[in-house]
Order: sequence, then structure tokens, then C-alpha cells
Amino acid sequence: MTSREALILTRQTLASANSDEAGIESELLLCHVLGISKTKLYSEPQRVLTSTEIRELQHSINRCLLHEPIAYILEHGDFYGHDFYVNHRVFIPRPETELLVEEAIDFAHHHTISQNELILADIGTGSGAIAISVALALPQAKVYAVDITASTLHVAHINCQRYHVTHQVTLLQGDLLEPLPEPVNVIIANLPYVKNHELRMLPPEIMNFEPSVALIGGEDGLNVIR
Ligand SMILES: C[S@@+](CC[C@H](N)C(=O)[O-])C[C@H]1O[C@@H](n2cnc3c(N)ncnc32)[C@H](O)[C@@H]1O
Repeated sequence: MTSREALILTRQTLASANSDEAGIESELLLCHVLGISKTKLYSEPQRVLTSTEIRELQHSINRCLLHEPIAYILEHGDFYGHDFYVNHRVFIPRPETELLVEEAIDFAHHHTISQNELILADIGTGSGAIAISVALALPQAKVYAVDITASTLHVAHINCQRYHVTHQVTLLQGDLLEPLPEPVNVIIANLPYVKNHELRMLPPEIMNFEPSVALIGGEDGLNVIR
């Protein structure tokens, strides 16, 4: 099977399962499995897939058909122009959360505290996307990144290493503000906010795959935030 044939087949399979994004998802899956760029995918349409690649592609398609988010399949999430490692232990960073990063950076630029005295805390850091994006934008600032789950912090650590900010971002395990060793100037938090009864109404991509500790906010959704 050539990459062109594989692309058509993948697109058709995903489209027949009513995927709205069959076109883009098939490109992403194929590039991921073959380890090539989109440009190469289209410039070398006659590349023949090995049997291992065909098996991997089939496996990825099956995962997609079961509504697993493509970010988990690709182990990659885009956030604030950066590429973060993600797996099923962490919430997939959302584009709308980038606003929190902008607000924190804006605060830093308009506040009288000098950047090298500025301390920020990202509470419920997940993949570390917020903490790391802020650290990269404010290289003099100190950032604490807290999460209640150890396996989540392992992912955040991988991302801190990827972006060379392990000296700047301190990862802390614990409940909300409790692990912070000192007062901070800015608290950034994207905490769970889904009401218990709303969980069942979420799309299967979220409900069945994203960690419940990242989603569930109790009866009124405000348990953790409050
Ligand atoms: C909605 S996710 C957000 C993850 C990340 N900040 C983002 O925006 O992509 C919420 C995160 O809060 C963490 N969390 C939930 N309860 C917590 C608590 N009591 N203290 C600290 N972190 C908590 C979860 O483990 C999860 O990683």
C-alpha cells in the first residue's frame, strides 16, 4: 500500500464513522505513523508502507474510531505556540486557556515588581502547559507548578525538560496552594469545573479518556475552585 492509498483509506474510514475532521486527522495519523512531515506525505505519494507501519496505522485508526482524542494518539498537544507531550494521565491543554497565560504575562509587564522578583504559581498544572508557557515568556520569573497527582507531574517534568525550564519551574505535588513554600505574586489556575451531573453529557472523547480528577468539580462544579 502506498502512502497516497493509505491516506485515502484512512480518510474514508474516519469519515464513515462520522468524524468531522476526517481530512486533517487522517493526515496527522499518517504523518505520525510514518514519522514524516505533511509536505513529505504529499510530495512522496508512492512511498510504500512497511507491514509494521500498516499495523500501526490500523491500530491508530481503531483508537480514533473509539473516540480517543487524537492528542493522546499523537502524544502531542499545541498550546501557546509550543508543542507539549501529553498522555492519558493529563488533561489536553485547550486553546481558550491561552488567555490565562496572556493575562499573567500582561500582569508581569504592567506591574511594578521587577521580573526577577516575580513569583507565579500554576495551580492544577496538568501537562505544565501554562507554567512552562509563562516561564518561557518571562525568563527571569520564578514559577511554581502544583498538581495533586504524581503521574501528572511526571508529564509536566518531561515538558519542563523539553523546554529547558527545570531550573525555573518547580513542580510540587499537593492540594491547591498547600505545597507552596512562599507567597506568590500571581496565581494562575485552570481547575476542574464540570458539574457531576454534566459529566455524562460530555463528548466521549472527554468523558471516556481525560482524567476525571482534571474534570469533576462536584455538585455545582466549584468544589475545587472554591
Ligand atoms: C482542567 S485540568 C487543567 C490542566 C492544565 N492546567 C491545563 O490547563 O491544561 C485540572 C488539573 O487540576 C489538577 N487538580 C485537581 N484537583 C486539584 C487539587 N485539589 N490540587 C491541585 N491540583 C488539582 C488535576 O490533576 C488536573 O491536572
